[in-house]
Amino acid sequence: MRNYKYIILGGGVAAGYAAKSFAEAGIDSGELAIISAESSLPYERPPLSKAFLAGDKSPSEILINDQAFYDDHGIAVFLETRIQTIEPEKSALYSKDDTFTYEKLLICTGSRVRTLDIPGAEWDGVHYLRSLADSMAIREQEYDIARVVILGGGYIGMEVASQMRQKNYEVTMVFPEDALMKDHFFTKEMSEFFEEYYREQGVKFIKGEKAVEIIGSNGHLTNVRLDSGKTLETDLVIAGIGVIPNIDLFEKTSIRTEEGILVDHFLTSSISNIYVAGDVATYHDVIFDKHRRIEHWNNAVTQGQYAAQVMTNQTREPYREIPYFFSDIFDLSYEFWGDVKEADRVVYRGELSAEGFSVWWLQQNRLVAAFVMGRPDEEREFAQMMIANGEPVAATMLEDSNQSLKAPNATA
Ligand code: FDA
Repeated sequence: MRNYKYIILGGGVAAGYAAKSFAEAGIDSGELAIISAESSLPYERPPLSKAFLAGDKSPSEILINDQAFYDDHGIAVFLETRIQTIEPEKSALYSKDDTFTYEKLLICTGSRVRTLDIPGAEWDGVHYLRSLADSMAIREQEYDIARVVILGGGYIGMEVASQMRQKNYEVTMVFPEDALMKDHFFTKEMSEFFEEYYREQGVKFIKGEKAVEIIGSNGHLTNVRLDSGKTLETDLVIAGIGVIPNIDLFEKTSIRTEEGILVDHFLTSSISNIYVAGDVATYHDVIFDKHRRIEHWNNAVTQGQYAAQVMTNQTREPYREIPYFFSDIFDLSYEFWGDVKEADRVVYRGELSAEGFSVWWLQQNRLVAAFVMGRPDEEREFAQMMIANGEPVAATMLEDSNQSLKAPNATA
């Protein structure tokens, strides 16, 4: 039996940043343990579909904290240790060989990829992208290949297509929707712009179709068959078809789940000594006054940091953060804040072009979301300020690039 004052269950992004905040709070050596199913110390996931996949970074360069950090602060890290059962009433976690008890637990079990359920999905050469090992496996398969089929038209599909095309492979993206990022925040105009931009870079699209079979011969995959009957020749398939929150462990316990693990605006679960951060947290967003679960880096970072502060009594303010996402594709980098779901109006600032433009979503004249790419910093600052304060914004000012967005209380 191993006893700790604090345990972080999971060793991903939220865990790595929570550990930093525990250290900053001045915990004593031996008080904190991280238990992770992975074989690496917590690392950044965004580079796995960007610089790491490109071969420009090594595993040690994407670590959130190096080994010396954990040693210096007396933080125990149990790698390759999967927790199989939790008993919240006993404050106990069980792996195959060990029992761990805690005074306070932070759950950061994240998500896992949705996998293909079609014949041939087990062929060597069919890949997903969640972990360092997944990204390494793609890198290792890249010798002697010419063609790549990407399944999925979301964030991962777009980033992987960009990386693979920059390596000069023939890249085809296949997805069931009729537009890129359709289920995310892109408007029709944004999808059209990015599709055109991708085509100019040489990426091909097959929209409105799904893969129904992966075919191979002599130990190599050779084709992907689509539901229309069309067959594509390929050497590699990479599927980015969504993720599933890792909540199975908690479902038959007294910890309340609702898509993820349900927590309040202090990230506290239905069990008072259990806190939750990152992809797996269904939390109460005080800015939009609704429950939501977010599968993005910034959410994992800020929730991990915040949960550690609450657990060490450094704060009693509610968790307050605007949902945020960033992406890098080819030569473009964009950022997005907010929530488009209740928006009743969209305005564009600047022509939709690779030079840069921004998109603003309003609900009853209040800014609820913004997309900014290649625009002055004042637009980024304005977006965050106006979403947070909820004051009215004039659409005419947003769409007129000649008008500054510096004004703190622009009225409708
Ligand atoms: P994360 O998945 O990072 O960690 C979960 C950890 O829990 C893992 O270590 C897992 O092994 C462990 N675990 C689970 N069950 C366990 C058990 N029973 N026992 C022990 N350990 C267990 N976001 C963004 O905003 N911009 C971007 O550009 C990108 N790009 C990007 C690229 C790629 C390839 C990926 C996969 C993801 C992104 N993201 C992103 C998303 C972002 O990285 C993601 O939201 C965070 O990693 C979530 O962090 P968590 O700590 O919640 O889960």
